[in-house]
Amino acid sequence: MYSLLIEGGRPLEGEVTISGAKNAVLPLMAAALLTREPCVIRRVPALSDVAFMVRILTAVGAKVRSQGDTVSIEANRIRGFCDYDLVRKMRGSVCLLGPLLGRLGQAKVSLPGGCVIGTRPIDLHLKGLRALGAKIQIDSGYVCAQTRRLKGSAMFLGGRAGPTVLGTANVMMAATLAEGVTVIQSAACEPEIVDLAEFLNAMGAQITGAGSPTITITGVKELHGAEHEAIPDRIEAATFAIAAACSRGEVTLRGARPEHLHAVLDKLEEAGVRLDRAGGNLTVKGGRRLRPVDVTTQPYAGFPTDAQAQMMVLMTQASGISILTERIFETRFMHVSELARLGADITIEGPSAVVKGPSVLSGAPVMASDLRASAALVIASLVARGRTHVKRIYHLDRGYERIDDKLRRLGARIQRLSDS
Ligand code: UD1
Repeated sequence: MYSLLIEGGRPLEGEVTISGAKNAVLPLMAAALLTREPCVIRRVPALSDVAFMVRILTAVGAKVRSQGDTVSIEANRIRGFCDYDLVRKMRGSVCLLGPLLGRLGQAKVSLPGGCVIGTRPIDLHLKGLRALGAKIQIDSGYVCAQTRRLKGSAMFLGGRAGPTVLGTANVMMAATLAEGVTVIQSAACEPEIVDLAEFLNAMGAQITGAGSPTITITGVKELHGAEHEAIPDRIEAATFAIAAACSRGEVTLRGARPEHLHAVLDKLEEAGVRLDRAGGNLTVKGGRRLRPVDVTTQPYAGFPTDAQAQMMVLMTQASGISILTERIFETRFMHVSELARLGADITIEGPSAVVKGPSVLSGAPVMASDLRASAALVIASLVARGRTHVKRIYHLDRGYERIDDKLRRLGARIQRLSDS
């Protein structure tokens, strides 16, 4: 197991290239199961979640080859079974359900289970697939779905916390091969859904409205192979932007798409961070004094829950009281107690965290609890005086490509240790 030893106090300076988006790539790879023909996906980041997806696709019978950041998938003969040992390691594997059901008319995929950020049900995925005519039962921890042929239908996929991203992806993928027209109301509007729809359309699907709350899918008989380049990772970009601001540095995010980052950039500007969008690049300049801001996480185009923990670190450096309200995942404040160990002043009040700043953070051993919480601990370590030892960074390697190398190139003193 690896950990990171970080010596804080240096501003980040320079350029960083944003990798392909994990949350786009996982469904894109699953979508390749919808055709017998080879598909090629480019700008695939080297992450352990992607490696898991390769194992899962291989386990269902696909041939997968990786070369640099390109993955080729040929799903000529596949089976509709995906077992618990693979699925439990990565929640994103639930997005196999839609493609397997669409292509084979049957799927048996292990239920993913909860995780530290919340219970994470999949009732909306099942509601959508049932609306397409699938018979679904839960049997011994598995979702068992089957149908003679899926039939297009109109459905409402909104839940307690709004739309569901992977639920929308699952239904959209299954509906591409259904008979007739499917209309998803209250669909997720995330850029990753638009990216998936573009890939599916390149494969011969007929999807309109992706990126809006109403997506219409006209089923076709079969899909064919296609090539696609995944969008850059807006959460990685947000993480580096916040890190640059917190460290009072100046970082250019090469390849970042500002149009996917409005909510985050808006809050950074409100906090006094300067942004330069010249020449198609985004440069983030941290001011000496940060102002407090209030943030509420929301479905896209609102402030992303996946950047909430990182933003909380910025709030610890602002002069005054900031309030951060989490509306997507009920227990996504696991990082608070670790940030407190570094000296942050944060009180939880129901779904909100009240952050008093500015705090002088000082290095200590801390433990990462999930992917984005790990990123927050790394940012806090870059700001803290002295040395911080961030343990359990396998979470970080799930979703950030070579984050220690990228930070080192920006001037951070960061070392990866192999713990015995
Ligand atoms: C995706 C992202 C994850 C991000 C999340 C919200 C991937 C691989 N993961 O996860 O990084 O944090 O979107 O932006 O893309 N819900 C239900 N029933 C369901 C499904 C979801 O009640 O059937 C609830 C969830 O508990 C949560 C909310 O809906 O409160 C949003 O979850 P959802 O959009 O489904 O998250 P994921 O797609 O799993």
